[in-house]
Amino acid sequence: MTKNIAILGSTGSIGRQTLEVVSAHPESFAVAGLACGVNIQELRGQIREVRPSAVSVASEADAHVLQKEFPTVSCFWGPEGLCRIASLPQADCVLVAVVGSAGLRAVLEAISHGKTVLLANKETLVAGGSVVRKHLLMYRGALIPVDSEHSAIFQCLKGENRRQLSPEQLDKVRPEDALKHPTWLMGAKITIDSATMMNKGLEVIEARWLFDLPATAIEVVIHPQSIIHSMVEFQDGSVLAHMSLPDMRLPIQYALTYPERLSSSWPRMNPAQLGTLTFFPPDRKKFPCLDLAYGALEKGGTWPAAMNAANEVSVELFLSKRIGFSAIPSLIAKVLEAHKGIMEPDMEDILEADRWAREEASHHAGASHHAVARMIQP
Ligand SMILES: NC(=O)c1ccc[n+]([C@@H]2O[C@H](COP(=O)([O-])OP(=O)(O)OC[C@H]3O[C@@H](n4cnc5c(N)ncnc54)[C@H](OP(=O)(O)O)[C@@H]3O)[C@@H](O)[C@H]2O)c1
Repeated sequence: MTKNIAILGSTGSIGRQTLEVVSAHPESFAVAGLACGVNIQELRGQIREVRPSAVSVASEADAHVLQKEFPTVSCFWGPEGLCRIASLPQADCVLVAVVGSAGLRAVLEAISHGKTVLLANKETLVAGGSVVRKHLLMYRGALIPVDSEHSAIFQCLKGENRRQLSPEQLDKVRPEDALKHPTWLMGAKITIDSATMMNKGLEVIEARWLFDLPATAIEVVIHPQSIIHSMVEFQDGSVLAHMSLPDMRLPIQYALTYPERLSSSWPRMNPAQLGTLTFFPPDRKKFPCLDLAYGALEKGGTWPAAMNAANEVSVELFLSKRIGFSAIPSLIAKVLEAHKGIMEPDMEDILEADRWAREEASHHAGASHHAVARMIQP
């Protein structure tokens, strides 16, 4: 049976690789809707290729331009438009690959409309993990991770009974590091997040929500070859590892076909040619973002949302050459120090923490916050 997919962030790195997977299996997948930000040139080509019934872009003006060009396609815009694509009646599942906490509201919308969420966007669970979890319980929703480390843990845990374990006994989970691997072609923000190791910090927080683990059970190990994507240690000491060549199309395809697997024609791993696999602990002094993320996770409440927003602003400031690389962690630390967080936050508290942290980060950096604020839209 054909699965209808809505893709949020279709013009990005993950979005384009998702369309590659879709076009490799035309009998299995159809695209119901596409959403992106500003790259309407790329979107035009995608509309012609996969013929979605609806699309959404960031600006109203771009939506009107597209509506004229494609009269049979419904063209929406802005955060509302993103939510329209996330809740399209004809979509079975929604692949969320927008960047930043802009994904949070769309994820909630998809869950409340009964869609299976295939989640690549990291910032959604970091900012609003507790709210997403409540939503999943309330609507009996399903969320499948796309990020390679979490997909690896998800695959290692398939068929395993985890309910008998106490939190202390819980499986040790080790998201592996894909840092600086030349074959991971990623968007600008995640590339900077990788360089600061905030990417691993975000993944630790994601793993907490995806697999219901305490921070102490989630360990980061550097593995420069990026062949093992995660390992799960069980109570008897056995360790299952998930291995493949680093290629995001694999976890994307697995999320799309779960619990089945489809064949693929991409390059295969040859164990005899792998050489040595190495592992070592991260240098926490050199990469303070990792401890900032662990700290925010331990504090809980709105701290991860504030940390995530401060990180988004810092990365934008760095990319526009307004702060140096080493100012990224110190700016985030200043925002977290000043944060008067709320425990057990609801959606409004998370939006407020996000808004406050963006202003605070811009203020500390001496920049006009109007230039850098990209708030989650209420
Ligand atoms: N790339 C990877 O290998 C990888 C792996 C694991 C997880 N992830 C996560 O997946 C997410 C996407 O990463 P990426 O590397 O694909 O990023 P990317 O290449 O920068 O793409 C981001 C996408 O989001 C769209 N977008 C941005 N803001 C938007 C908004 N407000 N409304 C609608 N669309 C918006 C962009 O549209 P325009 O370009 O048209 O503006 C683009 O399609 C991130 O959270 C990242 O951490 C990525």
